[in-house]
Formats: sequence, C-alpha cells, structure tokens
Amino acid sequence: MAKDIPDTATLSFGDKSINLPMSSPTLGPDVVDIRKLYAQGDVFTYDPGFTSTASCESAITYIDGDKGELLYRGYPIDQLAEKSSFLEVCYLLIYGELPSATELTDFTTRVTHHTMLHEQMTNFFRGFRRDAHPMAIVCGVVGAMSAFYHDSTDIYDPWQREVATIRLIAKLPTICAWAYKYHVGQPFIYPRNDLNYAENFIHMCFAVPATEFKVDPILSKAMDRIFTLHADHEQNASTSTVRLAGSSQANPFACIAAGVACLWGPAHGGANQACLEMLREIGTVDRIPEYIEKAKDKADPFRLMGFGHRVYKNFDPRANVMKESADEVLGLMGIEDNPTLQVAKELERIALQDAYFKEKKLYPNVDFYSGIILDAMGFPTSMFTPIFALARTAGWISQWKEMIADPSQKIGRPRQLYTGAPHRDYVPVSER
Ligand code: SDX
Repeated sequence: MAKDIPDTATLSFGDKSINLPMSSPTLGPDVVDIRKLYAQGDVFTYDPGFTSTASCESAITYIDGDKGELLYRGYPIDQLAEKSSFLEVCYLLIYGELPSATELTDFTTRVTHHTMLHEQMTNFFRGFRRDAHPMAIVCGVVGAMSAFYHDSTDIYDPWQREVATIRLIAKLPTICAWAYKYHVGQPFIYPRNDLNYAENFIHMCFAVPATEFKVDPILSKAMDRIFTLHADHEQNASTSTVRLAGSSQANPFACIAAGVACLWGPAHGGANQACLEMLREIGTVDRIPEYIEKAKDKADPFRLMGFGHRVYKNFDPRANVMKESADEVLGLMGIEDNPTLQVAKELERIALQDAYFKEKKLYPNVDFYSGIILDAMGFPTSMFTPIFALARTAGWISQWKEMIADPSQKIGRPRQLYTGAPHRDYVPVSER
C-alpha cells in the first residue's frame, strides 16, 4: 500500500532548485529518484559504501534492519528455515512463488540431473597447489564453467538463462566438495541421484571409495537449513558485484565467479571462517574481556568477527535460527559442552551488555554461530566460505536473472568525487 508521500523532493543549492521524483516501495524507506540530477543540476551525489543508496529495484528479498526481519519473496526466514527446504527456497527466489508439489518435483529432478561436472574440468582442480584455499579453487572453477557450457552463456536467450541457472545451483555442491577433496588429497566422490541436495553434498565431502558412507539425517537437515539461511540477502557486497558484472552483459558463470571472489573477504562471507578462528584464539571464557576491549580500541584493527552488520541494527534473524540449530545439532551429536560454543554464548552475553556494542547497535550476525555447526559437522574452517558461496549462488543467480529482465537496466558506471591533481603538462625527466 503506497504511503502518502510527496510526488517530488526538491533539492536547492546556489541559484538552483531541482525537483526529483519520489516513489514508495512495498516495504522500507521511500526513495528519491536521482537519475536526472546530474543532467539537471550538474552535480553528483556522494555515498561511498552505498549507505543511503538503492542501486536497483528488486522484488526478491527484503530486510528490516531495525526489526531484525528477513523476507524471501515476503516469507519470513524463520518460517522457511523451519518448514521449507533449500531447493524449495531456490524455486521461490528464482520464480517468485512457492512451488506446487509437481513443480517442486520437476525442479528437483532438473537440478539432480545437472550435478555432474564435465569430466575434463577435473583437470582444473589438479592445476592448483594442494594447499590452495578452497575459495581460490571454487572461484577459478566457477569461472571456467563459461569455457565448458557454451550452450548456456547467451544472456538474451531465456532458455539459456534457465539452463545456466539450473547448472549453477546443481554444480556448486560438486565444485565445493571436490575443492575440499583435492585440498585433503582424497579422490573425488561423484554426485548420486538417490540422495537429496544436502545429503549429496555431505556425501561428496566425506565419503571415500573404500567404504560405505551413510549421511546422518541430523547433519543433512542442519546442512539444508544452513543453505536456506544463506541463500539471499538483498544487495550485499557480493550480490552487488554479480549485478555490476552482469550489467556489462558478461555471461552468468563469469558473474557468479565475481560474486564468489567478493564473498571471500573477511568483512563479508569470509567472516564465518574468521569468527571460528577468533573463538578458538579466545579459547576460554576468562579471556573474553581482553578481546572485547581490543574490539573497542580504535587503535586496534581487531573487530569482533560475526558481530555487526550494515543493515541489521537489531538481531540478525538468521543468527537466532543458527544459534538454535547449533544447540540442537551439538546436543544430538552429544557435544553440547563444546568449548567453542560456550565461549560464543558467553561472548554474546557480555558483548550485548557492553555500552560500546549497545550504542553502535552491534549484534551477532549470520556468521557468529554458523562456523560452530560446520566445525562440529567435520568441515575445516577453510570450507566455511565455500559453503556460504554454494548457498548464495541461489540468490546471486536470482538477482542476476531479475537484473537481465529489467528493461531499465543499464551498465553500472558510478562517478566519483575527484580530489587528484588539476590539469598539468608533462615534464621531461631531465627537468624533474
Ligand atoms: C555478511 O551485507 C550483507 O547483507 C552481508 C551478509 C549477507 O548475508 O550477505 O549479511 C553477510 O557479510 C555479514 C557480516 C560479516 N562480517 C563480520 O562479521 C565482520 C565483522 N563486522 C564488521 O566488519 C562490520 O560490522 C561490517 C563490515 C559487517 C559492517 O560494517 P559497516 O556497516 O561499514 O559499519 P562500520 O564498519 O562503519 O561500523 C560502524 C561502527 C564503527 O565504529 P565507529 O567508526 O562508528 O567508531 O561500529 C564499529 C566500527 O568500528 N564496528 C565494530 C564491529 N562492527 C562495526 N566494532 C567492533 N567489532 C565489530 N564487529
């Protein structure tokens, strides 16, 4: 329901007064459309980090940072995490509605029959050093998909866009699992069509040819829920990277590889690995105050990993679900007294009472508890961000498809506030 807002905002400066149209979203702040500002006023807006800037129109995901609410196509994340499945969430993000039973079966069948990689792609893995970070391998192999799947790189062919979408969702688990297997020096385990999506990924990671490997349903359910919690999140850094790459008409595999690269950063998707390493470094609850002080010290670059968020100024709803899941999974695995979980819970308790964190509205985010579950499931910390990338591929490709179909989409080309040298002539080296 459109709120009662003025049709225009007026920007006045010097002898100029410019009327800019306003529009109202379904949810969230009204927007001032500045697309004609430069043409009419010969000025730019300045917003490094895009703290006050909407880069696009989207109908996929909505976050209310003050309420701590996350909706995928209008459905609250806690309901989807409890009642849905990752592949059903993929369908919802891509096509906009929850599937019927028949639609879900058809979608699942299509994904299942695209999980294999072109056999020649195994050579890419073998070109990396064994100690390469799995994210380096995932980034490289996803980009290399554009060298193998030429029949789904034409972005103006709706059928090829659809095939690329299914291939990416289907093959990311295989690529991530094989990056892990290569890293630990074990043979690749091929996908199996008799296993569901999360079971297949766990099986490809932990099975070995020498013996039968049964996937624990507790772990596959937790894995599927972790995928759902990480699937999409509005215009975060990596999604914005995918959209910007897509705006140049790059093929979908190149765009998703760009998203993988951006996600790797410890300020973004790399935070789950950094957070668990931080919790391990803290080690015991008596050392927590020392780290809280480090996090508050402006002179110290240390930050509390897994805490804070550009949008959430309340609890990240995913962190709440993840915390419940950690208790459930570790309890079912008989390791509820996991020291890292105890440190995390005490760190959260102390930080949330601290004036600094309260004043800056810093709460645990999705990365604070996810690493504890993944660690308990047997994944090394280096696999935490590849798992994030696997799940976020659903959001990235949904946002990419939305962007390609948007008639108002143009190549992304921000301007700048130039503070460099004024015009000057070249000085020969003999005169310098
Ligand atoms: C993800 O965007 C998304 O949606 C991302 C994501 C997704 O699903 O795609 O949710 C996934 O990336 C989650 C965030 C994971 N990153 C971390 O956990 C790393 C630790 N967090 C910080 O680096 C930071 O909170 C960010 C990067 C997440 C947010 O940074 P902002 O919005 O740019 O905020 P800021 O850096 O300007 O911080 C505001 C203030 C600063 O103090 P002042 O300069 O105002 O004095 O809060 C402080 C910061 O120093 N602060 C922290 C802190 N986070 C912010 N101080 C200590 N520890 C922290 N974790």
